[in-house]
Amino acid sequence: MRLYKLCNLKWLRKNGFCLTYTTFCSQSKVVYITTPIFYVNAAPHIGHLYTALLADATARFNRLQGKSVILSTGTDEHGLKIQASAVNHKKSPGLYCAEISSQFQALFDRAGISYNHFIRTTDETHIKAVQTFWEQLESKGYIYKGKYEGWYSVSDEEFLGADEVCDQKLENGEIQKVSITSGQPVVWTAEENYMFRLTSFRSQLLEWIASGVIYPDEKKKQVEISLNNLQDLSVSRSSSRLTWGIPVPRDSSQTIYVWLDALINYLTVAGYPERLQHWPPDIQIIGQDIIKFHAIFWPAFLMAAGLDLPKRIICHAHWTVDGYKMSKSRGNVVDPMDRMNKLTESGFRYFLLKSGSVFNNCNYNDEVAKEVINAEVVNTYLNLLSRSSSKSINKRGMFPSFDEEAFQTFFTQEERTMFNRLPHLPETCITHYQGLLCHKVSEAVFEYIRWSNKLFNDHEPWHLCIDPTNDRHVNCLLHVTMETLRVCSILLQPLIPDIAGQVLDRLGVCEGDRLIEHCEVKRQSHREKDHPLKLHKKHIMSRIQ
Ligand code: MSP
Repeated sequence: MRLYKLCNLKWLRKNGFCLTYTTFCSQSKVVYITTPIFYVNAAPHIGHLYTALLADATARFNRLQGKSVILSTGTDEHGLKIQASAVNHKKSPGLYCAEISSQFQALFDRAGISYNHFIRTTDETHIKAVQTFWEQLESKGYIYKGKYEGWYSVSDEEFLGADEVCDQKLENGEIQKVSITSGQPVVWTAEENYMFRLTSFRSQLLEWIASGVIYPDEKKKQVEISLNNLQDLSVSRSSSRLTWGIPVPRDSSQTIYVWLDALINYLTVAGYPERLQHWPPDIQIIGQDIIKFHAIFWPAFLMAAGLDLPKRIICHAHWTVDGYKMSKSRGNVVDPMDRMNKLTESGFRYFLLKSGSVFNNCNYNDEVAKEVINAEVVNTYLNLLSRSSSKSINKRGMFPSFDEEAFQTFFTQEERTMFNRLPHLPETCITHYQGLLCHKVSEAVFEYIRWSNKLFNDHEPWHLCIDPTNDRHVNCLLHVTMETLRVCSILLQPLIPDIAGQVLDRLGVCEGDRLIEHCEVKRQSHREKDHPLKLHKKHIMSRIQ
């Protein structure tokens, strides 16, 4: 509630703060939100889109509170994995990266990811940032030359200790060493590399993690366990093996380790090294497979460079298909572009956000997706809009003002209580959005939309509207329905911006009145007037067949 109040401009004014909207936004720190950057070794799948959608919903939720937000995303283009993929596709790595990177960008544009920056690690500005950062670590004595000997997973671009790998029997009977966590094959590596003094940061890292930056809390344990076996980290590879990467400054025989390169993207976007702005990131959204890189390596690099650490790392669970991790070899990769063609952009977006979870893996199924979209978005939400705006019932095409007397007269105690509780819905949703619990937001909002549909049925306005003496009753019902739709639509904007926006358009709610602060239920009937609906626009969305 406190946070809501802080962001509620009306509340600020009432309490003696005379800030205008613009000064409020420009003086408060911009909220900097990041997604991981995506490997360009293959086309994007629904798991990638999910990470970006969670970050986008968070960005939109913050904007809904009147805050200025920067959302960054992009592609991770260096490393052995991408080098090998380009070779497999008989393309130069530069061309190959550009092609796949543009697929990610096209996907995010289509899915409505409201990013401000789309960074590519092959950008000149980024290469300069990485080399400057390297020099900074080196000048502070955190980099030394040493011999790295151990396992390396090319697929995860990760060095692994002996306790992190196991034997796996292949179909042909051969034994292969794989990473215990990812199941990906590993290769033995023994090389002269540059090493980073990761172990010097163990106690500082433990302290930082104990401060509660990682969400959900259970992930903290996993990071603490990894910190027990901390080793210094190899941060370069021999250029004879890894050509596709950023050379170590003044030693072109070595290429910078792709994870060091990739993590610096968050700094590049913020203007490092020339003019670092909006630092540190407020919210970094990542999938559960990359927590070690973001909760150990990343803060340690920043500590070494003397830079502030991210404020919150949010880690989400994964999407599986037929119960398995998506993989080309298993043939179970779900193409998000194809699904948007079938289920619509908004429908698919709603389904992924509503059904995915921060805590537990979720299995993707086309039939379930179709059912959820039809049942909730089309049959419940949009149906309520068409019923309440239909010419036969809402003859004047109006969003009527509130009529207290009619409300007291024609509505039961139970109905009045439910509608009177509507002003609490934003608080509930704010709490859920902060925990990235989109399914809970949807549950809370749809409880109201379903209630409102039932209210509509119970009052049978199609009978009432025959007799003009029932006008006050009908109008009051229309007000309650549309006010519920208005508040719910404002709150649904981070999940389905396009559809919620179209519903608000039809309700005649102007663009400037769509923030959380505008959810406040309007009851001053003497001041509020009936206002016309805008129904001339095309049909919003049909049932998915
Ligand atoms: N390039 C690194 C990240 C570097 S960030 C400095 C990387 N790339 S990735 O393409 O493999 O993954 C990007 C994001 O997609 C990660 O958050 C990852 O967890 C997420 N997902 C990949 N597969 C996923 C699912 N099946 N389900 C949900 N999210 C998934 O890691």
